[in-house]
Amino acid sequence: MSKAAIILAAGQGTRMKSALPKVLHRIAGLPLLGHVAAALKGAGVERIVVVTSAAGEDVRTYARTLGAQSVIQQEQLGTGHAAACAREALKDFSGTLLIVNGDMPLVTSATIAECLKAQTHTGLALLAFEAADPAQYGRVLRGADGFLERIVEYKDARAAERAVTLCNAGCYAADAQNFFRWAAALKNDNAQKEYYLTDVPVLARADGVECAIAVTDEVSVSGVNSRAELAEAESKFQSRVRTRMLKDGVTMTAPQTVFFAHDTVVENDVEIEPFVVFGPGVAIKSGARLRSHSHLEGATVASGAIIGPFARLRPGAKIGEDAHIGNFVEVKNTVIGKGAKANHLTYLGDARIGEGANIGAGTITCNYDGFTKSVTEIGARAFIGSDTALVAPVKIGEGAITGAGSVITQDVAADALAIARGAQVEKTGWAKDFRARQQAAKKENK
Ligand code: UD1
Ligand code: MG
Repeated sequence: MSKAAIILAAGQGTRMKSALPKVLHRIAGLPLLGHVAAALKGAGVERIVVVTSAAGEDVRTYARTLGAQSVIQQEQLGTGHAAACAREALKDFSGTLLIVNGDMPLVTSATIAECLKAQTHTGLALLAFEAADPAQYGRVLRGADGFLERIVEYKDARAAERAVTLCNAGCYAADAQNFFRWAAALKNDNAQKEYYLTDVPVLARADGVECAIAVTDEVSVSGVNSRAELAEAESKFQSRVRTRMLKDGVTMTAPQTVFFAHDTVVENDVEIEPFVVFGPGVAIKSGARLRSHSHLEGATVASGAIIGPFARLRPGAKIGEDAHIGNFVEVKNTVIGKGAKANHLTYLGDARIGEGANIGAGTITCNYDGFTKSVTEIGARAFIGSDTALVAPVKIGEGAITGAGSVITQDVAADALAIARGAQVEKTGWAKDFRARQQAAKKENK
């Protein structure tokens, strides 16, 4: 059976108090919408329609990058109305349709699969969870037959109904064309004057279709409606990734201080010291060591390499086997050869560093003149003296040495020594004479 999904993402997200649409806020570097789409794709959903508000141009742009289609809900008249807005876009679709809130970033493919499985029993299903704190979630009232009786929204619920702890997660599965028929019949006679998606099951029952309830774990379906819930979701996502990393053989002395991106790849036998932060696009090979307070983004690190403490790897940093990148070293769009070392206070940008090269403390690649970025090439086993400024474009040959404090503006041949600094001048006894002169002058002026 082919599968499609509607992601509801047109809500104002008022409680976020943000100019950024709620579904574009990020968890582990990926927008909430990206998390939901990834879970759906992983569960075999081939087609996704994102419901956006008229002002949601940025959401539509992002949806395109996910390979999803978008539709506009002109007025935010409720979740049921939002889902119905996808009818035209899916009119040629027959199969199973998932309808998912765009604000549940911790949802996994396995969770979606639970909902799909429950749907096969009756023709309609939803995900529910036992909430530790049911707060403002819709309450799931279960009938004696185990199927859904109805959902009551928090704002419409009486005290006895609010006491129910089984909550609606905001993920539903139904036959697509049945669903659109039910959604078209929704009414808005409730506390919020909205067309509630949660009223669909009652209409389905009139058609003889019961709604099955798949009870899932609370973490996977927690919704993000405020900054506090965003922070909470981030924390839960991080602890999920840390647990997986530890299980996969990654050593972390203080896992709760290490922050991963949604796509971080770390092989087994990597050691990560406390307070390491990953931005998106990082892959670390087995046997590498990431020392404290390092920040990595868009970088790859080969086995045996040591990064940090206090190193910064920016996009395009490719650190070779057994290379060392030490404290206060920033590497951007640069390939570091096998066994090369840049251990202290250095900036390497748009550079290629050969195998076994040694980059002295305070070396700077001057890669930018305010208009263009230029490349620095450093040959294998070259030795760059401390405080060398390499004015790109420039090439340092294999095995060459640059003198400390040099400003290198021209290519240096292999095995040569280049010194580009003022020659040292020494004046014998000058300092002593100077002091004598100054002291005499002082006495005279008294
Ligand atoms: C909704 C459910 C509630 C459930 C909870 C789970 C309804 C009526 N209530 O409440 O039962 O417990 O999710 O998190 O469905 N949206 C639109 N257009 C609209 C309104 C909302 O696209 O007109 C989108 C929002 O962008 C959001 C999703 O629908 O992604 C859910 O809306 P939200 O306002 O967060 O609903 P909740 O109050 O959380
Ligand atoms: Mg919500």
